[in-house]
Order: sequence, then C-alpha cells, then structure tokens
Amino acid sequence: MLKRNKVTIVGAGHVGATAAQRLAEKEIADVVLIDLDSDMPKGKALDLSETAPIYGYNSRVIGDADYAATTNSDIVVITSGLPRKPGMSRDDLLRVNAKIVKEVTGKTVEKSPDAILIVVSNPLDAMTYVAHKVSGFNKERVIGMAGVLDAARFSAFLSMELNVSVENIQTLVLGGHGDSMVPLTRYTTVSGVPILELISKDRLETIVQRTRDGGAEIVKLLKTGSAYYAPSAAIIEMIEAILKDKKKILPCSALCKGEYKLEDVFVGVPVKLGNQGIEHILEINLTTEEAEGLLSSAKTVQGLCKVVDEVL
Ligand code: LAC
Repeated sequence: MLKRNKVTIVGAGHVGATAAQRLAEKEIADVVLIDLDSDMPKGKALDLSETAPIYGYNSRVIGDADYAATTNSDIVVITSGLPRKPGMSRDDLLRVNAKIVKEVTGKTVEKSPDAILIVVSNPLDAMTYVAHKVSGFNKERVIGMAGVLDAARFSAFLSMELNVSVENIQTLVLGGHGDSMVPLTRYTTVSGVPILELISKDRLETIVQRTRDGGAEIVKLLKTGSAYYAPSAAIIEMIEAILKDKKKILPCSALCKGEYKLEDVFVGVPVKLGNQGIEHILEINLTTEEAEGLLSSAKTVQGLCKVVDEVL
C-alpha cells in the first residue's frame, strides 16, 4: 500500500498554517498542525480539509495540541516562537524563542526519533542550533530555513528592477539569516548573464541592502507580524527536495564542521537536499571579501549561541 509521507508543523500561526495549505494543495504529504491550544490548529485543519473537495487534494490535515498525533513524522517543521514587532531585531527574540524551541524540539523528537527537522523560528541560525543540541540528531537531519527565502527576495527585487522573469534569475545568499547575511552577487546571473553586466554596482548594492532588510520591510508594513507567504513557500521547496529525494542545491542553515573554515556553527551555506536531509555541503570559491563576510556572519551566530547556552 502506498503510504503518504507525514509532515508535522509545530506552530499553527501564519507561517505554519500557510505551509500546511501549500503542502496539502501540492498533495505532498499528510499534515499535522500543532499549537499550544488544540482548538485553533483543529479549526485550521478542518478548514483545510473542507477545501480539499474544491481543490481536489487527498492529503489529510489534522490539528492538535497533543504531540501523540505527530508520531513517526518524516519531517517536522518548527515555526514556534514570537514574531518580530516593528523595530525589533531578530536577535531580540533570542532568549524567549530559545526556551520555546527547546520545549517543542523535546516533545517532537520523543514522538518522531527518525524525523528530519526544519527550523524556521528566529533568530534562525541560533534556533537551529537549539534544535540540534536538544534533539541530539546528527547534523544531516537538522536544517534551518533562511537562504531559500533570502535568495527569493533578492531574485524578486532584481526581477522588479530589470523587468525580467523571476525564473531567469539565479542567485545565492549565504551567511546567517540576519543583518550579516551575504548575498553573493558574483554568483548572481540573469539567464546566465552575470548581474553586473546588467546593473550598476551602486544600484546592485541598494538591492543587496533591501534583501538584508527584506524581513524587516514586511514587519514594518504588516505591523502585527512577519512575512509568511514567501517563508512558507521556501519551507515547501525544502520539503519537496527531501521527500522526493531531488538532490537539490539550496542555501540552508547547516552545521559547518570545517567547511569554509567554520567550526561548529550553523550558518547559511549551499547544501544538497535529498531524503537523507543535508547530503552534502558544497564549498564554492569565495573571494576574500565574501569569505570574510561569511566568517563575520558566523561569528555573530556564535555569539547568539553562547547566550542560548545559558537558557538550555
Ligand atoms: C523574515 C523572517 C521570517 O525574514 O525572518 O521574514
């Protein structure tokens, strides 16, 4: 009998619920939505189940507060945590979200000891560190979602600037998901044409900065929360790569152990995603400036992890 994959999403807020909707609509997996009180995730799951006849999907969606429902998930996405308020940095969320991620990771791994964890809570790289430490999972099975989102934002802004299809733009964003992220303009092309042949250096730098501030720009506009359409889409791209064993190269937060001369730190790097999780970290050539940007970003993450250690 064909068994559909099972994906649990912890945190049924905007990011979690929209990810559930996308998963169901693509019929990628059965979905369990978990939140603190059971009525809200149950309500959203029921609403998504009632959408199924109209959209024509057969994925089952259930909601609960009890982790029993999550037993033996293939993937668990952790979105729990407080979102940013206007003016707050992702790092302001550090201590409070570390406690939340610690608790939900513990409950998750008890029920799904073989799952792959995708962490979305902020500050992203430090929360991925928390999930790794608390779960005791090997590094291949703990992945942070940020680079796909940041690269999508960079591509979207370039597409608006150049009035070309987003599908023509290839780009890569490394480093932590924060103010120190490192968009790699040298590896950014439009249908194979290096970006600097199409746009001035100054203009490109402005777009790079907008990418770094991409999350904050949306927080400022929404006023009561942070982005969720693009973050949830990024989660789905990662889940599809894993469940369909695509061996897809995507920028994700991964535990580096010597790659890029980084020791024991979660930071955004290009990885190969397949059904084992992170199957490989690609080490691409970086200029001195790019390598320094990545190192300084990694140092910022390490600083956050030290604070987090006090909470764990
Ligand atoms: C953002 C949040 C999710 O970048 O970090 O929108």
